[in-house]
Amino acid sequence: MNDPEPTGTVVAVAPGRVNLIGEHTDYMGGLVLPMAVHLATTVRGHRGGDVVELRSHQLDGVVRVALPVQDATSVLPSWGRYVAGVAAELGTTTGFSGTVDSTVPLGSGLSSSAALEVAVALALGATGSPLEVAQACQRAEHAATGVPCGIMDQLCSAAGVEGHALLIDCATLEVSEVPVPADARIWVVDSGQPRELAGSGYAGRRASCEAAARRVGPLPTADLADIAALDDPVQRARARHVRTECDRVRAFAAALRADDRRRAGQLMVQSHRSLRDDFEVSTAVLDRLVDDLVAVPGVHGARLTGAGFGGCVVALADPGVDLSGSGTRAWRCGPPAAPG
Ligand code: GLA
Repeated sequence: MNDPEPTGTVVAVAPGRVNLIGEHTDYMGGLVLPMAVHLATTVRGHRGGDVVELRSHQLDGVVRVALPVQDATSVLPSWGRYVAGVAAELGTTTGFSGTVDSTVPLGSGLSSSAALEVAVALALGATGSPLEVAQACQRAEHAATGVPCGIMDQLCSAAGVEGHALLIDCATLEVSEVPVPADARIWVVDSGQPRELAGSGYAGRRASCEAAARRVGPLPTADLADIAALDDPVQRARARHVRTECDRVRAFAAALRADDRRRAGQLMVQSHRSLRDDFEVSTAVLDRLVDDLVAVPGVHGARLTGAGFGGCVVALADPGVDLSGSGTRAWRCGPPAAPG
């Protein structure tokens, strides 16, 4: 959304996302199934001048970057690196002065950084398809953090519709909508354990996957027997996760389309176990939260969402199930029109 108001005020809004299933597959050309949520970042202000200046309602400091941006990596306060990264990728030469306001919780796996990047891109006047905006924002994230993230978060934020899951094939970048059944309830529960993507071993996981792919070919379609024959046990486990997770995404999308919540829930639990045992990105806190949630009557499944190492768990539940007291905070995230 990018609505210049009559006064010349630009209001750009970009949502956070919850990934229903398909974790650590995007950067290997696999399948993901994220859903945009009602939590969003809004950038409001005016275009003009040759400086981008933003104040945040949630974060300290004022970001002030002169255009054109030469180097995004040393901007302070550090959230300004995302802003500078986006301006650099877009080649922005017209400045902007305004505010950032966000309801996406920071560092919880709901993609507050992608929401910030996409909202800033739209505010700065990015043109192009949602995919092109997402790709510029992905490059900005790489530049800002040094973390080699995939395309999922930025693409979901740029192309997502609240309450609709997006099946993304990250090899072809083909996107198709998978409606969430009206009587399914998606909950996001914060474990309270903060996560830092940059310090999280994300790049190491990706490097192991790439090493495995050099031996067995693209992991989403690799032969399971070839993966089982890899002699490096770490590469073998990481590759097995990516390969089996892609199968689970496909099966989950089919289960959602058939409104088979029981099956969808089982797949979420399997995904969590694979992330815990093969990909090793879970924590004891997340494991306990998943166990607690799946023990609640009417909850079909739960799993860590996002990169892992802390952050949030996503749960699939029946209507009438109230998880608002779970974890340190919880949100019911869709579908939006459904009551209770
Ligand atoms: C982060 C990255 C995404 C994706 C997930 C894990 O959110 O930004 O690209 O790799 O981790 O699925």
